[in-house]
Amino acid sequence: MSAVVLIGAQWGDEGKGKITDYLAEKADMVVRFQGGNNAGHTVVIDNQTFKLHLIPSGIFYADKICVIGNGLVIDPKVLLTEFDYLQSKGIDTGNLRISGNAHVIMPYHKLLDVLEEEFKGEQRIGTTKRGIGPAYKDKASRTGIRISDLLDKNKFAQKLAYNLKEKNLFLTKIYGHQELNYDEILQEYLQYAERIKPYIADTSLIVNKYLDEDKKVLFEGAQGTLLDLDHGTYPYVTSSNPIAGGACIGAGVGPTRINKVLGVVKSYTTRVGEGPFPTELTGSMGDLIRDRGGEFGTTTGRPHRCGWLDTVILKFAIRVNGISDIAFTKLDVLTGISPLKICTGYRYRGATLTEFPMDLTVLAECEAVYEEMPGWQEDLAGITTFNELPAAARDYINRVEELSNVPVSILAVGPGRTQTIIRQTIF
Ligand code: GDP
Ligand code: IMO
Ligand code: MG
Repeated sequence: MSAVVLIGAQWGDEGKGKITDYLAEKADMVVRFQGGNNAGHTVVIDNQTFKLHLIPSGIFYADKICVIGNGLVIDPKVLLTEFDYLQSKGIDTGNLRISGNAHVIMPYHKLLDVLEEEFKGEQRIGTTKRGIGPAYKDKASRTGIRISDLLDKNKFAQKLAYNLKEKNLFLTKIYGHQELNYDEILQEYLQYAERIKPYIADTSLIVNKYLDEDKKVLFEGAQGTLLDLDHGTYPYVTSSNPIAGGACIGAGVGPTRINKVLGVVKSYTTRVGEGPFPTELTGSMGDLIRDRGGEFGTTTGRPHRCGWLDTVILKFAIRVNGISDIAFTKLDVLTGISPLKICTGYRYRGATLTEFPMDLTVLAECEAVYEEMPGWQEDLAGITTFNELPAAARDYINRVEELSNVPVSILAVGPGRTQTIIRQTIF
């Protein structure tokens, strides 16, 4: 039995899609367990770039089962667009299974996401406006509509009527917006249901059966540790649990079945949306990293805020996820930058903190403490083994391992499949 949970160790966009695609070759199944189409996972195969929002990044291997677990919120329109997009590129989606217990993003969720953000003004989160938060809100309120509800026309009609009655009150009385039309939504979603129906399954059963049969299952996290609803930089977080524990809940597997947790760590830090960011670089160095790293959102196109690698965050991510292995990505982006800085602590009111503070107001006051390391000038794009890396790059990785006490088992030196250095096998 081999179950590996892959998660983002920072604020998302660490390169989870690329690493998932790489590991999917050895896996039998790839499972998404939380989030929705707020995610944007990039996979580059033979110079062709694919961007996925809902479908697991294992879909490029025809013989792997891909699962969308119960923990997701699914916008059916986006899902079907993704089907069409992949099919138009010759990628078969027949091996996809979707949990009937996953929740459905409805038009009012998307609208409320926009209106709530506007209402918050300065307090806004900077969401992706995909309806994620409002859909999870309904899930927690026990009024949400699940994928399986779409299969029963009467049940769906009833649930929609209740929800729309409530949401239209919010829209008109609080936000001064016009009402949404019941019949239009009903017809639209019943049409989606027809196309989604063949994919719906009891995915917890399927995943556990694979584990019972000693098959290799890769759980593909979306977002990142600091966007976790419980452990992230609340309220500047997403509405699900991207940490490793979320895989158990969002896929319906017990914690005893997980063998490894692979933390995907980018060689610098980025963040999209609002909230404190101790190692943020607002000047020309931040611009340089953004340009070289192509740090513009896969989902919304927004420019990413960029900063140095932060090992206080890394240590925190190792703690709350139980990271056993690190996949260190985008090392190539640091070529030509010297010296490189690594944050090892925070200065807070005269004291030095080495643990990530629980309180956001403390984090907002923290100033990063750095150590410097010499950079390298060599192009890393074609390198396939650790020993071929320039000495300064090896020293940098060794230092990350020392500071984190976790092995860097995978290194990425470019977006392509082959631009990956394996130091310890994961599967
Ligand atoms: P995800 O959300 O964690 O899957 O990451 P994204 O796909 O949103 O963003 C990562 C970006 O970096 C994508 O454009 C990837 O193609 C690219 N990428 C991933 N790994 C590497 C790498 O090692 N080097 C470079 N230069 N780009 C990479
Ligand atoms: P992947 O999987 C980076 C951020 C948004 C916002 C906050 C809440 O590609 O790494 P939401 O729409 O989820 O309510 O927004 O979370 N966010 C991400 N940032 N990568 C992502 O996904 C993200 N998904 C959400 O920018 O700050
Ligand atoms: Mg992304």
